[in-house]
Amino acid sequence: MTPLKERLVQLEVLRYNPDTDTEAHFQRYEVVCQEEWVVLDALNKVKADIDPTLNYRWSCHMAVCGSCGMMINGEPKLSCHAFLRDYEGVIRVEPLAHFPVERDLVTAPDDFMEKLKRVKPYVIPKEQKPISEGEYKQTPAQLMKFRQYSMCINCMLCYAACPQYGLTPKFIGPAALTLAHRYNLDSRDGGRKERQEVVATHEGVWECTFVGACSEVCPAHVDPASALQQMKITSSIDWIVEHLIPGGKSARDTVSREDAGDIS
Ligand code: SF4
Ligand code: FES
Repeated sequence: MTPLKERLVQLEVLRYNPDTDTEAHFQRYEVVCQEEWVVLDALNKVKADIDPTLNYRWSCHMAVCGSCGMMINGEPKLSCHAFLRDYEGVIRVEPLAHFPVERDLVTAPDDFMEKLKRVKPYVIPKEQKPISEGEYKQTPAQLMKFRQYSMCINCMLCYAACPQYGLTPKFIGPAALTLAHRYNLDSRDGGRKERQEVVATHEGVWECTFVGACSEVCPAHVDPASALQQMKITSSIDWIVEHLIPGGKSARDTVSREDAGDIS
């Protein structure tokens, strides 16, 4: 069997210990890695063999759990999906941008979690029926309307990439708004009107200036930028119906989930 190729990798990692440091500083590590490893493997080797005090989050090592996001050479990446072969020279590793740092590469996700809650990311049934009447059925075509937007792994890379979130932390942001869109498009859901109170505001979709960086960095190909633009269109239709059409206020309240879906 051919031996696996090895390579000396230099990592420059931003360190910060709130108990001892007044500010963050870079620390350089040299570590022998196998050519096919990812950045997370290199960090694990540093922690195991060189510096057990290094802190970072990870769990699945297969781009599913969303916990290993960090800035790698300035770009938001899943460290378990950032292959060493794609980098030359010193690899700079920093915590995800736009989030408070707890320690080293570990950031606090509280703001993101709070925003997820605000968009009510769950099915609000259009009609309640007793369990005895069975499940709420959905056709494959109805599923396909929102499937792409349900693939989010909550990695927060889109927030780290979004200049608007960096400038205006009140912005609900790409992933949470995309999740609102996902439920609005669900044939079983009747909660669009409730979500619009958060979505169709200056902190909601209107804060988005369509830079598109969220979709470029998304490892799950959710395409949050397209979800937000679709929501701008449906929100604009709401406004036109309410303000320019006689009797439109009550008509707006009946703008259906299907209308939202037809624009997608
Ligand atoms: S939309 Fe994409 S980048 Fe944003 S949190 Fe979800 S998976 Fe991550
Ligand atoms: S460790 Fe789970 S996504 Fe990277």
